[in-house]
Amino acid sequence: MEDKIRVRATSAEYDVIIGSGILSDCGKIAKEVLKDQVKILLVSDTNVAPLYLDKVKASLEEAGMETYDFIFAAGEQSKNIDSISGMWDVMAKEGFTRSDAVLALGGGVAGDMAGFAAATFLRGIRVIQVPTSLLAMVDSAIGGKTGIDLPRAKNQVGAFLQPSVVIEDTDCLKTLSPELFTEGMGEVIKYAFIMDLPLYGRLKALADSGDAMGLSGKSEELEEIIKACVRDKADVIASDEFDSGRRQILNFGHTAGHVIESLSNYSLMHGVCVAKGMAVFTEAALAAGLMDQEERDKIIDLIRAFGLPVTDDTPSEKLVAGAMNDKKKRGSTLSLIFVNKIGSAEIVKMTSAEYLEFLSKRGI
Ligand SMILES: NC(=O)c1ccc[n+]([C@@H]2O[C@H](COP(=O)([O-])OP(=O)(O)OC[C@H]3O[C@@H](n4cnc5c(N)ncnc54)[C@H](O)[C@@H]3O)[C@@H](O)[C@H]2O)c1
Ligand SMILES: [Zn+2]
Repeated sequence: MEDKIRVRATSAEYDVIIGSGILSDCGKIAKEVLKDQVKILLVSDTNVAPLYLDKVKASLEEAGMETYDFIFAAGEQSKNIDSISGMWDVMAKEGFTRSDAVLALGGGVAGDMAGFAAATFLRGIRVIQVPTSLLAMVDSAIGGKTGIDLPRAKNQVGAFLQPSVVIEDTDCLKTLSPELFTEGMGEVIKYAFIMDLPLYGRLKALADSGDAMGLSGKSEELEEIIKACVRDKADVIASDEFDSGRRQILNFGHTAGHVIESLSNYSLMHGVCVAKGMAVFTEAALAAGLMDQEERDKIIDLIRAFGLPVTDDTPSEKLVAGAMNDKKKRGSTLSLIFVNKIGSAEIVKMTSAEYLEFLSKRGI
């Protein structure tokens, strides 16, 4: 059974359609939202395209659309201007107009790039997101942030473009490696901590029954969990599309996590670093007396139950220096996200000296 969750952003409203086997409905769904006869550029990577491109293409063509594709080498290193330029080139050559569209089929890299190419081509054409990784389904495909990396820093160039529709076929997760599934769980757990007590209850029940690591094989439970995350993200986007306030709570675990990720030269996966970042803040909050032992144990135990790391030995000085270089910095203060009680988050502004004092409480 497919389900629709409506995202009500300020600039646009759209559905996130979630269900098993719905990849073959892409054509019908795309036709409904795009209306006219359109050309579609399918953007996918070398891992995902062999698995799912034909199915999506056939469905779009059956619905009367003309399809073209741009396949890039899988991985974050492709998330650059050369790939975007390649997409612009295909669209220009094939005579794309403002009524045509781009469709992202893949993980967050395909989604961010397809969105950015669409946001910039002819000053903006439409994009459809078809996420295939857990991380993309619960996070990156929703909310309209698009972009690419610069050699010096990730996600430095981008634009906001809300998709016309997001199509999430949970069957695609069956081909995801266990490592990629686990990293996606880092973001899932984050929603439970920052805003979703019922989701926390669901995840804790899985952990208590010893089923946490078997979640990828429990399709119905997994689908419910994905829907909860999508509802949470939709709720945050509705109140702060452009990241000036509440949307920042989605950065829980990310301020420290991004630094750990970049210090590892991106050898550690994003979701894994987010887990470490959440654990770092939790241990510091306990040491600073902002959180009690029981709450700390609940957070750490849940992260660990899903196979994610709960320790990190990066010195506090390095975590602070890295954060000061991060784009989230506004002026000389940092906006930090604290979860001192599961289910709610607060945004606290700190100077670098205050942040250092906070982190140093861990004794590292
Ligand atoms: N726009 C946003 O709001 C936002 C939010 C979070 C992350 N991101 C971005 O998302 C990216 C990370 O996303 P990601 O982890 O999905 O990365 P990714 O797109 O590189 O996908 C990870 C790997 O999984 C493979 N893959 C994807 N779906 C698969 C499937 N169904 N079966 C088999 N293999 C599959 C991909 O080929 C790739 O090798 C980063 O670039 C990050 O900056 C963006
Ligand atoms: Zn993230």
